[in-house]
Amino acid sequence: MTSDQIRESFLKYFESKSHLRVSSSSLIPVGDPTLLLTTAGMVQFKSYFTGQSEPPSKRLTSSQKSFRVVDIDEVGDDTHLTLFEMLGNFSIGDYFKKEAVIFALDFFISVLELPKDNFVATVHHDDNETANIWKDNGIPTDKIFIFGDEDNWWGPAGLEGPCGPCSELHYDRGAEKGCGQQDCGPNCSYLQKGSDLLCDRYVELWNLVFMQFYHHIDGTRTTLPSPSVDTGLGLERLAAVMQDVKSVFDTDIFVPLLNTIVKITGLEYGIDSNSTYSMRVVAEHARSASFLLADGVVPGNEGRGYVLRRIIRRAIRHGLKLGLNKPFLGEIYRVVASQMGVAYPELRQHQDFIL
Ligand code: GLY
Repeated sequence: MTSDQIRESFLKYFESKSHLRVSSSSLIPVGDPTLLLTTAGMVQFKSYFTGQSEPPSKRLTSSQKSFRVVDIDEVGDDTHLTLFEMLGNFSIGDYFKKEAVIFALDFFISVLELPKDNFVATVHHDDNETANIWKDNGIPTDKIFIFGDEDNWWGPAGLEGPCGPCSELHYDRGAEKGCGQQDCGPNCSYLQKGSDLLCDRYVELWNLVFMQFYHHIDGTRTTLPSPSVDTGLGLERLAAVMQDVKSVFDTDIFVPLLNTIVKITGLEYGIDSNSTYSMRVVAEHARSASFLLADGVVPGNEGRGYVLRRIIRRAIRHGLKLGLNKPFLGEIYRVVASQMGVAYPELRQHQDFIL
């Protein structure tokens, strides 16, 4: 399946389960001064979870463009991106844990036809209930892993907001892809064999957050009006699994961008690790800079403007390593816009500004 088909099948699946499809919001969060950029699908729905405003439906679904500043320096490995699309289904005081688990398994196994045996689940150490739900739905006990707050608590996005324990589905790419250590598992902290990168046998795909609390700026927590669900499934990682490739850069999302870089540099991709890394950085940052510009961010010395400036500079630095001495980001933007301009029309509407 192409990434466009995966996105559409996700949204259609949740529409068939009575969810209202909602467009992605801007990368500039509205009404949330504590948040620099939109980091997840739930950001535009914060006031629904808190009861401050009424949702158009208690069940929502979206594909949200999201930006994570913390990952800038990781970009170039197989999985990290600054900009990614987060597929999500949301229950605003409607269904809770059981339905969220059933929907997730049904979409992966019945719709995408991924093998059930390849999935493992992680749960928060206080959440026996969800561990039992996975078991009841065919995930055996030895494939359910318990973690603490660091891995299985999500939120708030920004300094305050809804949060709660979460449960994740990871995809097992097979022992031969792993570090070989006896206790290799999801969130593995060993290194890949002969590399300084972390073991990536298990790919974290879908995070199911059971929203129950509001985290206040002073660190206290109060309960939300009703238990709710917020999920996040990274489209690029799912595309890598569906297209049976090792890296997000080998998916249909990045191949056309990398082909353009190959064309303008005259270099081959995947031959030398340094140039491969630089090509990935250029492709990813050109894409994420295009999206930030499309939402009206301009390079500057602080806040969002500084984030944009950092990624443009990093792209140029890696471009120079590839021998690109003349402006090149505009050419890559044109490929981003032609590829993603249907799903995200702002990329085309603001062409002159972006260029
Ligand atoms: N809001 C859920 C996630 O970002 O994983």
